[in-house]
This record gives sequence, C-alpha cells and structure tokens, in this order.
Amino acid sequence: MTVVVTGGAGFIGSNFVLNWLSQNEECVVNLDKLTYAGNRESLAEVHTDERYTFVRADIGDISAVSALLDKYQPRALINFAAESHVDRSIDSPADFVETNVVGTFRLLETTRLFWQSLPADRKAEFRFLHISTDEVYGSLDASASAFRETNQYQPNSPYAASKAASDHFVRAYYHTYGLPVLTTNCSNNYGPYQFPEKLIPLCIYNAINGRPLPVYGDGQQVRDWLYVRDHCSAIMHVLQQGVVGETYNIGGQCEMTNLEVLKLLCAILDELAPRSDGRGYADQITFVKDRPGHDRRYAVDTSKIEMALDWKPEETFESGLRKTVQWYLQNQIWVANVVSGEYQGWVGKQYG
Ligand code: NAD
Ligand code: TYD
Repeated sequence: MTVVVTGGAGFIGSNFVLNWLSQNEECVVNLDKLTYAGNRESLAEVHTDERYTFVRADIGDISAVSALLDKYQPRALINFAAESHVDRSIDSPADFVETNVVGTFRLLETTRLFWQSLPADRKAEFRFLHISTDEVYGSLDASASAFRETNQYQPNSPYAASKAASDHFVRAYYHTYGLPVLTTNCSNNYGPYQFPEKLIPLCIYNAINGRPLPVYGDGQQVRDWLYVRDHCSAIMHVLQQGVVGETYNIGGQCEMTNLEVLKLLCAILDELAPRSDGRGYADQITFVKDRPGHDRRYAVDTSKIEMALDWKPEETFESGLRKTVQWYLQNQIWVANVVSGEYQGWVGKQYG
C-alpha cells in the first residue's frame, strides 16, 4: 500500500512524511516541485528509507502526475502542495493562481482519470485529501463566533482566494464525478522545518541574529495557533475515518494576538539562549507598516473533528513553542541553508 503526498518537502508536508514513516509501514511517494519553500534536507533522515520515494514534479504537470499514479497505484493522495505565504501573494499573486487554482484543478483531473480506471473495491477505498486553510472564511470581529465548517467563504487575500478556489474545485469533483474527497481547513501552524518567512520562525531567526522582530500594524491581530505535529495527527484521523465529501476544521484552541505570541517567544528565548548583553529579546520588537488588507482575527471551532473523529491537539501553545524554539536553536545549519540566496532578496524587498 502506498500514499502519495504532494508538497512533502514543505513545512507541514515534511512533518507529515516524517510522522507517517515513524508510525506506519506503508510507503510514501513525495511529489514536490521544490520551489523556494521546498527543501529535501528536511527529509534527510528518511532519504535511504526504502518506504520513501521522492519525485520532483509540478502538481499541474498532467503527464508527470499521471505516470506517477500509474506506477505507484496509491490508495490515497494528500495534497499539501501550494504557494502558502500571504505576503508573497500580495507581492506576486499570479504564482498563487497558477499552483493553488490551476495546479489543484489539474491534479484533480489527473487523479479523477486514474481513479476512474480502478477496480470497484479500490475505487471505493481511494481518498483525495486536500489540505486547506481557515483563511478562506475571512476575518472575524473580536466578539464573533469561531469559524465553523458551514461558514460562508469570504477570502480576503490573494492567497486565501486561491485556496478558496481550490476548495471549490475539490468540492465540485466530489459532487460531479463522485471522486472521494476530504478537505481540512486548518489554522496557523508552527513547529520544526517552517520556512523563516512566517512570523514565528522569522522572529526566532531575527532574534538570535540581533535583528528587529517586525510587528505589522498594532500587533493586535489574532490568530489560532496549532503545533504542526498535532495538525499531522488530525490529518491522519481525517484520512482514516473522515466521511467522504465532508470538510473538517482543525485548530489549536489557542487564540493569541501577534504581540502576545512575540512576548512569549522572547521570554522562552531569554531562558534558552539569553542575550550576551543581559537585555531581553523583547527589546528587538519593532512596529512596522501593516500588511494591506490584514485580516484582524481568525478563530476555529473544532467541535466537528473532536466529536466525529475523536481528535484533540496535545500541545499547549507554551509547550509547542518551547519545542519549536529548541528545534531552531539546535538546527541552525538547516536555517543557514534555507536563508541563503532567494530568501535575502525577499527579506530586503519586504522589510527594507
Ligand atoms: P510550504 O510553503 O512550506 O510548502 C509548500 C510545498 O509545496 C513546498 O515544498 C513547495 O516546493 C511545494 N510546491 C509548491 N508549488 C508546487 C507545485 N506547483 N507542484 C508541486 N509542489 C509544489 O507550505 P506549508 O506551510 O507546508 O503548507 C502546506 C499546505 O497547508 C498548503 O496547502 C497550505 O495552504 C496549507 N496550510 C498551511 C498553514 C500554515 O500555517 N503553514 C495553515 C493552514 C493550511
Ligand atoms: P504569517 O506567519 O505570515 O501567517 P498568516 O498571514 O497566514 O496568518 O503571519 C501571522 C501573523 O503575523 C499575521 O497576522 C501577520 C503577522 N506578521 C507580522 O506581524 N510580522 C511579520 O513579519 C510577519 C511575517 C507576520
């Protein structure tokens, strides 16, 4: 038995592949284009594992994906591949349309043709699991109820709009062709192997390198934070027990303002890697220009997955953040490798 993972060289995908191979005998084929966000080094510990195969390809490349499905005959495909950074989607939205919308559509179409050729028993067992985001639901007022699966889609950034479009295609392939799909909409993840353009790894990297910790606007925007390994366990639950055609919200039940996140991060860094001048890392917090169209608040109601699939996150934000900081402190070579080259250009453009 084999599963195909797309985008498995990225942050969540690599954690998922490592998690999978530590818990299952089943083989994993990782199809990844290796954009700036993809890094094979994140999977170094499984490179020689005979259950693991890496294929460099674009999810939108119909002949490459079709050949891969024919060769490996997977029982499921889990689609992590995407352009995933909101600020980059504001800077260059076309890449987001190309991969998240057109790429996902082509992946669905290629998978549908493969799935339709399967014998009835394998057809019934097959799953297409699409990994999406809570950002498709838009922004909440301070007192509004958390996002439920039934909320209207109101995406505000080009990233969120492209993910919303992909979710709609996934839904349409179930309703029109009967492709056995599942969709998950998750809140902000953090943990090992996250590219240091996102808030938490960016600020760990900047902190220990004596750089400013940039807070957009007033820093009062609220996000729900989920430790990446808890997300991986939720995906396993959905893959194994999710009802075909359904969507599941996933979150950490942990709403924090960005400023609260950074203050806790600085306190952990003060303890684990104190500054040589005796001052606290919070001194490096710097308010910068706000993100255009910045969503004020995301919050996720996870009662459906908790009740239907008996899943709950294990980490608190404090315990997950501590593990994350420890990982980045111990893996500075990984960080040094990913921040060379293109990354410097992005940081210069975004932060001046
Ligand atoms: P990431 O940017 O770290 O990784 C994306 C991976 O996809 C990279 O390995 C990249 O090389 C690959 N990729 C990009 N375009 C591709 C293409 N056309 N064909 C094949 N591979 C391609 O992203 P992530 O943070 O790991 O997110 C994974 C998924 O989870 C995304 O779909 C994202 O929308 C979703 N998600 C992320 C978060 C989060 O907080 N990071 C939260 C909710 C949902
Ligand atoms: P990010 O990690 O980019 O995730 P998302 O935009 O998908 O939620 O950002 C998390 C929050 O942190 C978001 O409100 C934007 C904010 N932020 C900053 O204040 N400064 C930064 O340098 C970055 C990258 C993000």
